Amino acid sequence: MNETPTDASDALSRLDTSVAHSARLWNYLLGGKDNFAADREAGEQFLAFMPELVQSARYNREFLGRVVRHLAGDVGIGQFLDVGTGLPTADNTHEVAQRTRPDARIVYVDNDPMVLVHARALLTSTPEGATAYIDADIRDPEKILAAAQETLDFTKPVAIMLLGIVNFVVDDDAATSIVRTLVKAVPSGSHLVISHPTVEVHREAVERALAMWNESGSAPMCVRTPQQIAEYFDGLEILEPGLATVSQWRPDGNDTTPVTEWCGVARKP
Ligand SMILES: C[S@@+](CC[C@H](N)C(=O)[O-])C[C@H]1O[C@@H](n2cnc3c(N)ncnc32)[C@H](O)[C@@H]1O
Repeated sequence: MNETPTDASDALSRLDTSVAHSARLWNYLLGGKDNFAADREAGEQFLAFMPELVQSARYNREFLGRVVRHLAGDVGIGQFLDVGTGLPTADNTHEVAQRTRPDARIVYVDNDPMVLVHARALLTSTPEGATAYIDADIRDPEKILAAAQETLDFTKPVAIMLLGIVNFVVDDDAATSIVRTLVKAVPSGSHLVISHPTVEVHREAVERALAMWNESGSAPMCVRTPQQIAEYFDGLEILEPGLATVSQWRPDGNDTTPVTEWCGVARKP
């Protein structure tokens, strides 16, 4: 069931380059080249009144690096389910994890055909570890879990990584149900990692960008309050410093200017 780059021709037929897509816009904000005119236009429109968006994307990736290093290194987690992977960039989850734990096993999940086309760059595992890519929608967590079982051992701790993705499930109950379904499938010692946009900083600009995005025909997204994001961790043990803007989650010398993306990391007891 795991998709491989041989599925790329099918993915290309699904590719709609006429409207901006989040993976490609994110790639543009991170300085990547895997984007189209519609993505670049949307990016420039947002950056005209919200230049901080670049920092938000970059600090979110830096958070990914710090949290994966912590989980693989300090906690000893050897398995990662990274849903809403995004286009490959520098320091993807498997590269960070396998630098610490060469035997780490990583399953990537995204529904953007462009990410599938570039999945080869995500499948460069160490020989001791494993990487796999699943072309699936987060709204179908059962499909994701069934396919992920081919690579991950669900009797051992798994880090569920939901970075910048729950915001694409705009229905609050559906979003909660998806997070609960994923967490229920993993054993004690597993961790849940979420980053999610808020309006805690640059409120007006974020609300304007959100309205523009949702009127553009792109897959709709939402922002949530830190309190709403905290509720995804109900029943779990949230790690210090609790819920924080991504730049302030265990910063290691980086800029700690608050950005719109907030995050939390928690352990399943
Ligand atoms: C903002 S990017 C975040 C990328 C990466 N996780 C990061 O933090 O840098 C959001 C990603 O979620 C993916 N995505 C959006 N909606 C999705 C859905 N319903 N199912 C699966 N993936 C989705 C997009 O294709 C994109 O790659």
